[in-house]
Amino acid sequence: MNVGIDKIGFFTPNYYVDMVDLANARNENPNKYLIGIGQTEQAVIPNTQDTVTMAANAALQVIDDSNRDKISLIILGTETGIDNSKSGAIYLQNLLGLSRHARAFEIKQACYGATAGIQMAKEFVNLHPNQQALVVGADVARYGVRTAGEVTQGGGAVAMTIAADSTILKLSKNSSVYSDDIMDFWRPLNRTEALVDGHYSNDIYQQFFVKTIHDYLQTNDMNLTDLSALVFHLPYTKMGLKGLREILPELSETDQKHFLSEFEASRVYNKRVGNLYTGSLYLSLLSLLDNSDDLHAGDQIGIFSYGSGAQGEFYTGTLQPGFKNSQRKKQINEILNQRTRLTVPEYETMFAQWPKLDAGDYHLDDLKDHSQFTFTGV
Ligand code: CAA
Repeated sequence: MNVGIDKIGFFTPNYYVDMVDLANARNENPNKYLIGIGQTEQAVIPNTQDTVTMAANAALQVIDDSNRDKISLIILGTETGIDNSKSGAIYLQNLLGLSRHARAFEIKQACYGATAGIQMAKEFVNLHPNQQALVVGADVARYGVRTAGEVTQGGGAVAMTIAADSTILKLSKNSSVYSDDIMDFWRPLNRTEALVDGHYSNDIYQQFFVKTIHDYLQTNDMNLTDLSALVFHLPYTKMGLKGLREILPELSETDQKHFLSEFEASRVYNKRVGNLYTGSLYLSLLSLLDNSDDLHAGDQIGIFSYGSGAQGEFYTGTLQPGFKNSQRKKQINEILNQRTRLTVPEYETMFAQWPKLDAGDYHLDDLKDHSQFTFTGV
């Protein structure tokens, strides 16, 4: 069996703010944002979208008549859920017309939630190869206007189906995981903006990456050069580069160039969207698949997931023959290119309005033509 990611889809809303505009408005050198942080654009979330609608919009791209009836596990990884009790996965089940006999629930561990979902889904499909799982990472990343974290905001969703005969990425049997009780980033229940000890969170991320990748390579008797590329959780794209630089000295100059070039492919989309929290790692994977010219079926990809608080996990995947999809790439570029560029005051207004309605009062319209969902307050 090749249990792994069979389909992958992405959604982000129709608005963004340009990082040069934001830098100018904040009296910062634009190169700090463009190079020092590694972001060019940032998704801005209107109050017609939340975690559930974005998750559903991404999932529409991976659910069709060929797999709808096979989905018997639905996992939403998020740290910006819309209810403290009811899982967003139940809304997804209903919106997508999935089986009422599916197990549906939500997972929270900061940006790690979707990885927890993928690992559970992998075990599930291993036991039940005729069934499939839907795993979605969806979030709205908010720190607040004029905070140090502002340049690392964003939002969107990545949806994946996990199947026995995966066409994109076979998941490794093993992982290396590491967790510790760390206060680097958190969000108390009464807040829509995260609290963060930014530089400390960078340090912990790097420490967890080094620990888990080395543990994985040692335990599985592998070398770094057995991997063709690495993908990282990208809260902002420079963060992945900081991780990569931790291990570059272990490689020859040629291999360093190769890993750096694959890293550039893995951050094309993330640079334009910003942080998706749970979805960021999988947007980076998608970016690598779509934008690398050097990868082939059979290549192994190293995958580093990090969720503040903190949990890290390193695992690998083997590319399957169907990993390239020009239609999918075209669609993602359309989503990104058709967005409206907001002025900084327009972004600030939209930011202040989200979420305007009480979350429990939201409902969704317009599912028929698979167009973007809209909210209606009841
Ligand atoms: N040209 C080029 N580079 C420049 C520059 C210029 N003109 N001016 C500054 N820089 C560089 C700096 O040298 C620095 O680079 P290094 O990180 O390589 O040292 C970089 O730009 C950032 O500058 P500062 O460190 O001065 O920036 P800051 O103090 O304003 O904060 C931050 C940066 C800590 C990332 C902040 O934006 C933040 O708190 N973000 C949220 C927290 C976060 O994303 N943490 C990541 C790990 S936690 C996680 O991954 C979970 C999650 O999703 C949140």
